Formats: sequence, structure tokens, C-alpha cells
Amino acid sequence: MYLSNHRVVSLAWSGCLQTPLIPAPEMPFVCLTDFQAQARERLSKTTWDYIEGGAGEGFTKEDNIAAFKKIRLRPRYLKDVSEVDTRTIIQGEKISAPICISPTGFHCLAWPDGEMSTARAAQAADICYITSTYASCTLEDIVATAPRGLRWFQLYVQRDRQLNKQLIQRVESLGFKALVITVDVPITGNRRHDIRNQVDLKTNLLLKDLRSPKESSGPCLQMSSIDPSNCWDDLSWLQSITQLPIILKGILTKEDAELAVKHNVQGIIVSNHGGRQLDEVLASIDALTEVVAAVKGKIEVYLDGGIRTGNDVLKSLALGAKCVFLGRPILWGLACKAAGQLLRSIGT
Ligand code: FNR
Ligand code: LAC
Repeated sequence: MYLSNHRVVSLAWSGCLQTPLIPAPEMPFVCLTDFQAQARERLSKTTWDYIEGGAGEGFTKEDNIAAFKKIRLRPRYLKDVSEVDTRTIIQGEKISAPICISPTGFHCLAWPDGEMSTARAAQAADICYITSTYASCTLEDIVATAPRGLRWFQLYVQRDRQLNKQLIQRVESLGFKALVITVDVPITGNRRHDIRNQVDLKTNLLLKDLRSPKESSGPCLQMSSIDPSNCWDDLSWLQSITQLPIILKGILTKEDAELAVKHNVQGIIVSNHGGRQLDEVLASIDALTEVVAAVKGKIEVYLDGGIRTGNDVLKSLALGAKCVFLGRPILWGLACKAAGQLLRSIGT
């Protein structure tokens, strides 16, 4: 994403897919892994590796999924389930189901109009979509294409304070309802695939198949522009410049959960960035219980990482999450041009 006069401008992305746009297949998608298999066929190896990859040896990425499978359900029967209502409320806003969209960068890698498709799917499904700092569409385009959708904005706190302020003010004026501060990227994780494929996040030339906008001027938002000195004490500055609720994404321990409450944030997303940052940290679902216990119901707790089935959603809610978020699966759905269908299929 490039900033021109501190306004986010779109990348020219018509050439960003290495494979031709393939129409959705006739066969139905039944579960999220059907989308995964199709997406893999459709995307270039570099793009696939970037989306799918974990950091280090990929332990945490794998564990996010495996940890869910170690939890067993204790079903209770003879309850009236003739009417099922999946609606819930997050940060005071109604959503149709506790299954929403995590921030992921560069959606144009999966489908040319990128985040605009995502925003439309989220609006149609009536769920929350967290737009990444690294969106490949302008925030204005995202809002214009899905004006009624519930949107939160994910901020990587930038070294340049003025830039943060301008971004936050813009996000507020565009009707985003919360600010999600990602805390687990003081520096980018050690992603071996991306190193091998020479994906260079530092210069934001994410993939060679992304063309740089010729017209771009002004500062370029790079991964290296993320402020590694961002600390707990800096939260008060952010709170002083926004009315939006602040949600911390990437909390994994009770100690940090207690600090989050102490610093008056409104929510926590228990997350390890899909195993893309520090490897060998706790699986998200394994961290949930201690975080929920630490916040003592004072703020809402959400979870992302490894959600692939309705049972995963159920387990997360049973362990205290108010809502879950999906990362990679949304990009699989986009690659199949069927993000809305993907959101429906997780409910089955
Ligand atoms: C991410 N994630 C992420 N997180 C964030 O706060 N800002 C971002 O820009 C991105 N970008 C991003 C790109 C890609 C390709 C992936 C896969 C992930 C992390 C994301 O929000 C989420 O934490 C994980 O993806 C959740 O795990 P699952 O659902 O992918 O298993
Ligand atoms: C990633 C960055 C964009 O996980 O957060 O690739």
C-alpha cells in the first residue's frame, strides 16, 4: 500500500495474478479445505507460499489447527434446537454470527479487486471485516463498495506519529468502528518460504507480480516503517487521538491480558498471527483460557488462528471467546471468487 499525500492509493494490480482468472468450478465447496485445494491450484507458488506459510519451522502454524483437534465436545441433548440464532454483538454492534474476518494484507494477490470483494462478502454475510494496514485497495473504495458493512481498521503503528494520526482520523471519518492494534509484529517473522522466494516485505515489493504504481509519490508504507519501539505507554497517546474502541491483536498470555485491561483497551484478539510471527508460541486456542480468566469479563475477548470448522468456532466460544476471526480461509475464498460461499460453509 502506498501513501500519496497521506492518502492510501490503490496499486495497479491487473497483472498481479500469475494464473489466469479461472471461473468457479461446478462442484460445490463443502468445507474450507475444498476452498484451500482450489486456491492452491489457482495461485502462483510464490503467492501460495506467502499466504500459507508460517514462521520458523511452522510449529505454531500447525499447532493452531492440531490444538483444536485435541479438545473433545461433551454434548448435551434433549434441548430445543428447532430455532437456532447465531447472532451476537461485538463492541456494541450486531453481527449475524460470531465468525468474522481477520486483517490480512494484499487481497489483490488472491483476486484482482481484492479487499473490495472481501468487503462485499462481509456486508452480505452481515459480519465484521477488519481491514489491514496493508490493504491493496483504497479505504474509500472499500467503504464505497460496501457502505453498510461493519468495518474495523487494523493499524500497524508507524514510526511516523503524524502518519498514525492522519490514518486514524481518516479511518474514523470513513465510519470504521474500531481500531485494532496488532502487537505481534515489532519486526516481520522469519518466513523461510518468503526468503527463498525472495519476497521482500521490507521494501513492500511483496511479490514480483505486483506492479509498483508509477504515479505513486510520497512515503511508502513499508513493513520496516512499523515502529518496533511501540510500548504499553504509547497506548495513551493513541487513546488521546481517537474516540474509537481499541482492540489489541496478538495477546497470548495472562500477564499481557491484565496489562491490556489496566491500559483501558476495549478488547483483545488472542492470536499468534496465524503462526507467521514468533514460532513455538502457544496455539491460539491453548492461550484462550488464561486470557479469558485474566480479563475477568471486563473486556471482550476474541480469537483467531486455525479456525477451519464450525466445531472450532464452538470450542472457542465455549472457552470464552465472544467471536472468532478467519485469516487464510478468506484468501482461499477470494482466490475461488467465492468468499461469500466460504463464509456460509463454515456454519455447516
Ligand atoms: C496475516 N495476518 C495479518 N495480521 C495483521 O494484523 N495485519 C496484517 O496485515 C496481516 N496480514 C496477513 C497476511 C496473510 C497472508 C496472512 C495469512 C495473515 C494475520 C491474520 O490477521 C490472522 O492473525 C491469522 O491469519 C489467523 O490465522 P488463520 O485463520 O490464517 O489460521
Ligand atoms: C503478514 C503481514 C502483512 O502476516 O502482517 O504477512
